Amino acid sequence: MFLKQSWYAAWWADDLPADGLSPRTIADEPILFWRDDQGMPQAILDRCPHRYAPLSMGQRVPGGVRCGYHGIAFDGAGRCLQNPHGPIVSALSVRAFPVVEKYKILWIWMGDADRADPAAIPDLAFADRAPDTAYSRGFLPTAAGHQLIEDNILDLTHADYLHATTLGGGSVTRARPNIREHEDGTVFIEWPASNEVALPFFRAEMPDPDMLTDMWTSVLWHPCGVMTLRFGATPAGRPREEGIDTWSAHIVTPETARSSHYFYFNTREFRVDDAEYNALFAAGLRHAFTTEDKPMIEAQQRRLGDADLFDRSPVLLASDAASTRARRVYARLLAAEQDAATAS
Ligand code: FES
Ligand SMILES: [Fe+2]
Repeated sequence: MFLKQSWYAAWWADDLPADGLSPRTIADEPILFWRDDQGMPQAILDRCPHRYAPLSMGQRVPGGVRCGYHGIAFDGAGRCLQNPHGPIVSALSVRAFPVVEKYKILWIWMGDADRADPAAIPDLAFADRAPDTAYSRGFLPTAAGHQLIEDNILDLTHADYLHATTLGGGSVTRARPNIREHEDGTVFIEWPASNEVALPFFRAEMPDPDMLTDMWTSVLWHPCGVMTLRFGATPAGRPREEGIDTWSAHIVTPETARSSHYFYFNTREFRVDDAEYNALFAAGLRHAFTTEDKPMIEAQQRRLGDADLFDRSPVLLASDAASTRARRVYARLLAAEQDAATAS
């Protein structure tokens, strides 16, 4: 159902508290997260091997967590620390998952632990480069499968209709997109626009809000649900450096087949020290994503019920080219993983 040999964004790193137990389902697996006594994040299956009680209903103990039901304790590597009822045998262990903090995000590896290479996490270094006054973010638990959310980003013509007064204006629908599929499984789409009035959001940043501009809008999709977006505008015919530029990421981690953990963050390359503008910018995006995208995608999922979109034979438009490509890559990678699992 989901790619397993993959890093997934699980938490904003500073949302995982220093104490307590924090359960979250990732790719259909119940996971228990916590920070150990040194502050290092830990992740084990949230299911006691004794009677399958959720370990998240237990308590923190020095070096690990104690099951709340009959008191067996485990460490962050999933090894039994203590068994009040008898000897510690090897079956008394829990699966542990590699976790790393990178780009302000806590990532979990859901595949074979010996294949967990943090270098495989998509490059989001712009998150670390941006000062706090040019960075904002959000987290949207969304009652929809990850692919519907990814389709939404891979077809930004929706901005012209769903976000007509903020991020729209028609230029994306009028653009002729370029789409490329890369050998590493990523899919890239850009919608170049020239001689267009800037997006409503950008208009006030132009020397004259009604002037014609050239705009760039692009998405790079990674199979693990990470999408990096770039939006910018410059006065028509002028180099990009004279305009305004933004980098964002939308990161969709499957929770279940019909629900997702949706993280997004935005960084700006203009007015980077302007905290007040940053707050306005963040509020505008939050409004679009929470009151426009999320309700539409969740309603779409409700109409689909348990069916996959492609089981319903949807009408495909030219603007679906990138999302269809991404779904095809995903299906190919999933089949390859399943073949490898069967072979081994
Ligand atoms: S269910 Fe965990 S110790 Fe019994
Ligand atoms: Fe949107």
